[in-house]
Amino acid sequence: MCGIVGYVGESQAYPFLIQGLKRLEYRGYDSAGLAISGTELQVHKCKGRVADLESHVQSKDVDGTVGIAHTRWATHGEPNDRNAHPHRSMKGNFALVHNGIIENYAELKIDLTRNGFEFQSDTDTEVLVNLIEFFYLNGEEMEAEMAIRLALSKVVGAFGIAVICTREKEQLIVARRGSPLVVGIGTGEYFVASDATPVIGYTNNVIYLNDNDLAIISQNSLTIKTLEDKPATFKISRVDRTIGEIEKGDFAHFMLKEIFEQPKTIEDTFRGRLSTDRNSIVLGGLLDIFPRIVKAKRIILIGCGTSWHAALVGEYLIETYARVPVEVEYASEFRYRNPILSDDDVVIAISQSGETSDTLVALRMAKERGATILGVCNVVGSSIARETDAGVYTHAGIEIGVASTKAFTAQVTVMTLFALKLAFARGEITSALYSEIIRELAEIPSKISTILAGHQRIEEIAAKYKDASNALYLGRGALFPVALEGALKLKEISYMHAEGYAAGEMKHGPIALVDDNLPVVVVAPKDHYYEKIVSNIQEVKARKGNIIAVVTEGDLVLKEMVNDIFEIPESHPAVTPLLAIVPLQLFAYYIAVMRGCDVDQPRNLAKSVTVE
Ligand code: G6P
Repeated sequence: MCGIVGYVGESQAYPFLIQGLKRLEYRGYDSAGLAISGTELQVHKCKGRVADLESHVQSKDVDGTVGIAHTRWATHGEPNDRNAHPHRSMKGNFALVHNGIIENYAELKIDLTRNGFEFQSDTDTEVLVNLIEFFYLNGEEMEAEMAIRLALSKVVGAFGIAVICTREKEQLIVARRGSPLVVGIGTGEYFVASDATPVIGYTNNVIYLNDNDLAIISQNSLTIKTLEDKPATFKISRVDRTIGEIEKGDFAHFMLKEIFEQPKTIEDTFRGRLSTDRNSIVLGGLLDIFPRIVKAKRIILIGCGTSWHAALVGEYLIETYARVPVEVEYASEFRYRNPILSDDDVVIAISQSGETSDTLVALRMAKERGATILGVCNVVGSSIARETDAGVYTHAGIEIGVASTKAFTAQVTVMTLFALKLAFARGEITSALYSEIIRELAEIPSKISTILAGHQRIEEIAAKYKDASNALYLGRGALFPVALEGALKLKEISYMHAEGYAAGEMKHGPIALVDDNLPVVVVAPKDHYYEKIVSNIQEVKARKGNIIAVVTEGDLVLKEMVNDIFEIPESHPAVTPLLAIVPLQLFAYYIAVMRGCDVDQPRNLAKSVTVE
């Protein structure tokens, strides 16, 4: 949610800033802008994508070796040139980019207005930059750093900021509370970014700033303190990512690339954790804490969006195999509903980015109430990964497409490993079943490759349904969340209204929608729900709905009964969600492409949601 980059060094700032913004564009793409401190401070910004900013800047002066830039996901004020960041303070002493929300901006704005400040935009950010200027101009011998500290002490809300002061223009000041910031350490140069992606290819060494840290960065020095001016603790981490990971290669879109990466990413998720030879599952990140997890009276899984769907799959798997009661909650609900928690509870946050504000705050609340808190995150060093007692990384690699695909299957893989390990440790499954599912999981990558090889057929089927206005997705058991996720993929990227439903619930409402215009996608492989779901298919068929079924290879009955099928290889039900979602991802992808939608950057969405 909003991407920030910054540069201080001996080179020109502009090339890094613009490339960094492109790499962070998944965080928001309503408007973009930059400020570069050369002979004077130049600010260029406009509505639209980073490419629009590039054209806007073309013949303008971008000379300078210190700079900040921003790609926006609008919260306060519509996406337009005026509301684009960076924002300058009224008297021009500061330029600032901001990720987050200043919750008390309205009161601060009233005070500032009383003190003679005027505003050009509708944003909370302009209030902050003027508040900094207010302190700067009203204190004796005030330095930018102190003015920023004073201003931030008055702020309620979340921020990751980068600031340039025109009178101290050789340096950048950055600070965070709630929104992530990374400082990349080069030779004679420093990079700042909302995550480590922009620094790939520039440096491998980064510092993930902690909440309430403030850093003063100039070409040859980096000082990190807390917002209260105390020494901060930090460590230098290595980022071992390659440029290839953040480029599309031969694929038309990142989303397609990421769908096709799944055989590899799932293997990466269980690499070193799953052993068919030794018949074992090792989750290194949970080693020390596992005895506590085994004794848990209840497991609560929290997440948002796609991660919440992965949690739902986890619920089915954990309850089925490990026999521990599980609750799944939207983090945004959990955090505000005063939940009853004790130290017998284990709360697991599932989050690709590890930065989702609702999930992070819900987790903190659970910790305060005594629960053991764990994280399942994709981004190494992210806030959730750092704040949890222990966790498991999903190792799906950088996911750039805003609609999550490979991160979802990686999360489900972790949930499967976790459920099985717990089931075995609690003596709830036989070793024969344990090894059978381990073997089945190990075969998933090659089975997904088989599904992907049939992508053309999926594209042909997508062509038949691309003009529908609505779609219904049905599933049962652990495949109900797969139906939810399939529907979410379609609506996110093609803007076709799609609803996921538990197949048994269809007759309690959604059946009213069924007519010969409605595509109904039914996840119906051969498992113990098969007979039931075939009955649901009959109910749709009787009302002339168009049925597209995800079926087990060779299912001639359903092939005859429904309009179209997506075949998936036969598998154990514990691992079928990992297969069943793949044709639905491709189906959504092809429909969106045929409808002319921007698949990687769907309207109004952002990949990392760091506001409530
Ligand atoms: C946003 C993204 C989704 C994602 C959700 C949760 O809505 O667009 O793809 O599932 O946030 O994000 P997280 O990083 O916590 O998994």
